[in-house]
Amino acid sequence: MEENIKKIKEDLMSDIESVKVLQDLVELKAKYIGKTGRITELTKNMKDLSVEERKSVGMISNTLKQEATSLIENKEKEIENAILNEKLSGEIIDITLPATSIPVGSPNILEKVIEEVEEVFMSMGYDVVDGPEVEEDKYNFELLNIPKGHAARDAQDTFYIEGDEILLRSQTSPVQVRTMLKYQGSEPIRMICPGKTYRRDDDDATHSHQFMQIEGLLVDKDISLCDLKGTFDTIAKKLFGADCVTRFRPSYYQFTEPSVETDISCFACHGKGCSLCKNTGWITISGAGMVHPNVLRNCGYDPEVWSGFAFGFGAERCAMLKYGINDIRTFYNTDLREVSSFDRRDGDNQ
Ligand code: DAH
Repeated sequence: MEENIKKIKEDLMSDIESVKVLQDLVELKAKYIGKTGRITELTKNMKDLSVEERKSVGMISNTLKQEATSLIENKEKEIENAILNEKLSGEIIDITLPATSIPVGSPNILEKVIEEVEEVFMSMGYDVVDGPEVEEDKYNFELLNIPKGHAARDAQDTFYIEGDEILLRSQTSPVQVRTMLKYQGSEPIRMICPGKTYRRDDDDATHSHQFMQIEGLLVDKDISLCDLKGTFDTIAKKLFGADCVTRFRPSYYQFTEPSVETDISCFACHGKGCSLCKNTGWITISGAGMVHPNVLRNCGYDPEVWSGFAFGFGAERCAMLKYGINDIRTFYNTDLREVSSFDRRDGDNQ
């Protein structure tokens, strides 16, 4: 018996030594402690032994089984560690490899210009507000001092949706009305509203049936045309460069009195005259003026107490001038080459 046990131990040790892969270990386990394993076999003929012998064989075979189990477990861990280490060493990261480039989207040029304008106005305390694109006649025209049948409507060939009351807004000026009506003369207003507008224009290089306007409104006490001039001047310098000079020309809008056309000195030729400014040295940027007393009154602001100025300009026109784009349709087609040269990460240096 003792001989047998000694032999099993020796064989086990040398078998364990020669194990290389987990599969060998499975076989070894079966060979020694499996159902018909050599250690298990030791207890097979117990019934033929005396009580004393049974006790001692039982103890010996149990100890042997425990030893074998722990040897097998240790070997298993050893093999698993070796596998892991080999895997890790094969996975060394080469930090000198060039990184995979992640494509970053670019903003639409128009969006970029609008964001820039918003930044400038917000820095001057203006809110950016929104209004509906499907508008009622009363907001788009009537409360802006343009009654039904008035000739001033002719300048805006409008898309009517239902009868003559619901339309696609032809200008962002109705947002002035909506904002004043909201506050009903209770507080001063400083807002801009960038948004889509619609006119039944023929589509050509400078016109589109849909375009973006940026509307502005300031209402407060003792506001004069000087405030409008000062504001326009500051904004023009921020958007078109510090050497930009501004001027007003008399104009006519039904909802402002007096009304002006605002010009900036041509940034391409600095006033000398070129094709961009059609040899005038000036570029027209927006319509503007002092809010008409009728409009203030219509919207709950007493013109004896409140005064204000308003302005409206085309965002596409502004972007076309700023970035030398000569076809308005550039903004609406889906040619990625048009936008990929613009990148928000470049900040304001575009
Ligand atoms: N709504 C005018 C247009 O679409 C532009 C405009 C002119 C807006 C003068 C104004 C303004 O607020 O004061 O032609």
